[in-house]
Amino acid sequence: MNKVIVVGAGMAGLTAAIRASDNAEVDLISLDYSERSQSVMAMGGINAALNTKGQDDSTEQHYADTMHGGCEINDAEAVLRLTADALKIVEWLSEIGTSFTRDENGNIDLRYFGGQKKQRTAYAGARTGKQIVTALIGQCRKREVEGKVTRHVGWRFVSLIFTDKRECAGVVCVNEDSGEIKSFTGDAVIIATGGLNSLFGKTVGSTQNDGYATARLLTQGVQLANLEMIQYHPTTVRTPNKRMLITEAARGEGGKLYVLRDGEKWYFMKEWYPELAELMPRDVVSKSIYKASNGGEKEVYLDITHLDEDTIRVKLDEVYDICTKYLNLNPIEEPIPIFPGVHYFMGGIRTDADHRTNIKGLYAAGECSSQYHGANRLGGNSLLGAIHGGWIAAENAILEKPTGELIREEVNIPTQNDGRLAEIMNRSMSIYRDEENLTDALNELNGMEESPLIILAKACIMSAIERKESRGAHQRTDYPQSSSEFEKASNVTYDGEINVFFE
Ligand code: FUM
Repeated sequence: MNKVIVVGAGMAGLTAAIRASDNAEVDLISLDYSERSQSVMAMGGINAALNTKGQDDSTEQHYADTMHGGCEINDAEAVLRLTADALKIVEWLSEIGTSFTRDENGNIDLRYFGGQKKQRTAYAGARTGKQIVTALIGQCRKREVEGKVTRHVGWRFVSLIFTDKRECAGVVCVNEDSGEIKSFTGDAVIIATGGLNSLFGKTVGSTQNDGYATARLLTQGVQLANLEMIQYHPTTVRTPNKRMLITEAARGEGGKLYVLRDGEKWYFMKEWYPELAELMPRDVVSKSIYKASNGGEKEVYLDITHLDEDTIRVKLDEVYDICTKYLNLNPIEEPIPIFPGVHYFMGGIRTDADHRTNIKGLYAAGECSSQYHGANRLGGNSLLGAIHGGWIAAENAILEKPTGELIREEVNIPTQNDGRLAEIMNRSMSIYRDEENLTDALNELNGMEESPLIILAKACIMSAIERKESRGAHQRTDYPQSSSEFEKASNVTYDGEINVFFE
């Protein structure tokens, strides 16, 4: 029987392990338990054109909204498959026990989310991630008991193992507690290690998803794409330890954004975008908050006090908890001070519609892969992309069989970054960018000791420098318009030098 190695045990990794285990033995490797994965933090929901609200929704419209939201540099074939499979994915999640919130007719309820005119986002209160991960863990445990999946918790990815024909045939990991180094070999590897959070320090994401795996893959010859496309979620709050998300669902349920102007509440989104207002795509809302607040000089508020108390306590339960527990604020009575924060990496490992990388036998799924979201991801499409990606990667990975001989390469253990990297990245790769600041940042990084993370950071900045236009999450003050020349993905390779090209 074939063996598939899955690295990462959040939503994409769990799905990949479950699906692959129907036809292969699976080693599921992760730093921590799935219950502590970043997927658990996801609040708002998962998109599927279920059309239970009689709004004449369709998978075609879901496809069109996703491409439009991504400013047309998403992989069209991948998005077509993603949106076409969305209904089946939500049905499957429901069947395996995800307790989606239901409407009065017993149908899965749908809420409004940004960049979509139809109610298309299925949800479980404001704890959708937890509910889905819990259902997936149940499925995975069954396979563990049957001996089809073997869990390895406490192991950090170090590097890929190749054959002499440059096929991927395993991974080297280090045990977090004992320091033991171990090789896990198999017929194919699926990487599902999430976003690149530690490049930016305190993001709303998990510190476990530090980007090291993606960085190391780049140095081992794996192509990356769209690294300049970093999503600032419009509504995050500062808590003592980290930034936290106030879900877009708060705006989906009717929450409004304002700043005080001459002592009056100014609802700038309604004024600037009368049709969708607060439900414009995230890049537009984040830019608008930045402008309305004069670059952060004025406080911006998210107001949900006009919603009925039940909506806040039941549908926005996690928002209520975050505000009361971490901000000492009651959102039923007071507006919430918010500001955009780094939330999601649209770019990452370059993958095709089958989730293949440029290395035979190596797949990527979830936030670490790059093909679905283009220049800006729609809320509700990340959970969909994670499940779909894990599923598709597994379907293909189970068919792999390396033909070469294993070779051993030198193993370097990951080094921690010291906080200076995050400061450079936050400064140069914020909502607005320009050549001068990006070049200064690149020069500073060139002066730092080289490590996979530093190389990855340089690759992000070089991608941002080379994309001489504004598109989605990439806003250049020196190139404020988008240009048809750049209606393509940016790609990065590394061969001792970083090379950026568009295709
Ligand atoms: O705002 C949110 O609930 C985030 C959802 C998402 O990023 O998909």
